[in-house]
Amino acid sequence: MPLPYVLLSAAVSLDGYLDDTGPERLLLSSPADFDRVDEVRASVDAILVGAGTIRADNPRLLVNSPSRRAVRVCAGRPEYPLKVTVSGSGELDPEAKFWHTGGEKIVYTTEKGAERARAAGLAADVVSLGPDLDWRRLLEDLHARGVRRLMVEGGGRVHTQLLQEGLADELHLVLAPLFVGDPSAPRLFGPGGYQQGRLRLLESRRIEDVVLMRYAPTAPGEGTRATAADRHWLRLACELAELCPPSRTAFSVGAVVVASDGTELARGHSREGDDPVVHAEEAALAKIDPTDPRLASATVYSSLEPCAHRASRPAPCARLILQAGVRRVVTAWREPDTFVVDADGSGLLASAGVDVVVLPEFEDRAKAPNTHLLP
Ligand SMILES: NC(=O)c1ccc[n+]([C@@H]2O[C@H](COP(=O)([O-])OP(=O)(O)OC[C@H]3O[C@@H](n4cnc5c(N)ncnc54)[C@H](OP(=O)(O)O)[C@@H]3O)[C@@H](O)[C@H]2O)c1
Repeated sequence: MPLPYVLLSAAVSLDGYLDDTGPERLLLSSPADFDRVDEVRASVDAILVGAGTIRADNPRLLVNSPSRRAVRVCAGRPEYPLKVTVSGSGELDPEAKFWHTGGEKIVYTTEKGAERARAAGLAADVVSLGPDLDWRRLLEDLHARGVRRLMVEGGGRVHTQLLQEGLADELHLVLAPLFVGDPSAPRLFGPGGYQQGRLRLLESRRIEDVVLMRYAPTAPGEGTRATAADRHWLRLACELAELCPPSRTAFSVGAVVVASDGTELARGHSREGDDPVVHAEEAALAKIDPTDPRLASATVYSSLEPCAHRASRPAPCARLILQAGVRRVVTAWREPDTFVVDADGSGLLASAGVDVVVLPEFEDRAKAPNTHLLP
């Protein structure tokens, strides 16, 4: 199921705290940075905060700039992004500003929480996700309601879960030049299992006396569960497919091989370099030392499923992947019958124990450089 693009946004002190323990909200950002946050809010379809943030800060979560709201309306969007909160308990103050400002609101909660939230008469759509709060189901539901970009503005418990579950596409982190120094204050990220390896730095920007850092997670998912990083790498494979020299007798495909810690091992595309018949996965795998121990836990991303039959070379790409010892493949598009009928490279890989993940939301992008080969 497709999910919205999820952007986590937070400001932290130099010692990593989101707030202090005083009754007033600690202002970490500078005025210019609050304006940047307003701009990001204006660009998204929905803004989410946890119930803890509603209790602690009583935020309104609005787009404050009238001109930004006017631009949204001119573009046919609601004046304000949808406001979303999550609560297991359903114990939410119906007088909080969250419910009485801005546009539409949704509370995602549990079966028990839904009873309480409905009894409280909240001015919001109350959605039960079952006995427990399931983040993937929550995001699927938001996507089904038309949310394509979601901004998450905390707090720490919410940010931690979305990052640990591989559901965050991007992190906007503002570092503020002050210390909190109180171990009982809330931290941005709690303990638990994060991705191995390093995130990718997308941007760093000085804004008055704070610094904005934008990072993206890089580590592939595990098994058949797709993460936000899987979507990033598959998007890159689709972009590589656009680089292929055109052909009337073969597909244009892009491929990337990524280690489990998010390190890119190699990339390739069809007919690259001087080889007029090389396939994308073959080109990428040929750039990696076959004894590289990272191959066993790597993921191959390919815009088209790896081929199972091939006239131009002895081994099809599905076999090359098995020979390389790779156990996970993510692809956008199952091979059509254009050149080989019932190719089923995914079936060949799966029957050998490889986890194959198909993300159909990328199918159109994978097809784009191949439309002349399709009926
Ligand atoms: N500096 C910043 O940028 C920034 C931004 C936002 C917030 N903050 C600060 O962060 C602090 C609040 O953070 P927080 O971690 O305490 O709260 P939070 O993440 O805002 O909300 C946590 C609450 O969300 C619900 N929830 C989250 N995950 C759940 C799950 N898997 N199952 C069931 N319920 C779930 C629970 O609500 P119930 O308790 O109702 O079950 C939980 O208590 C405040 O001090 C605030 O000022 C700072």
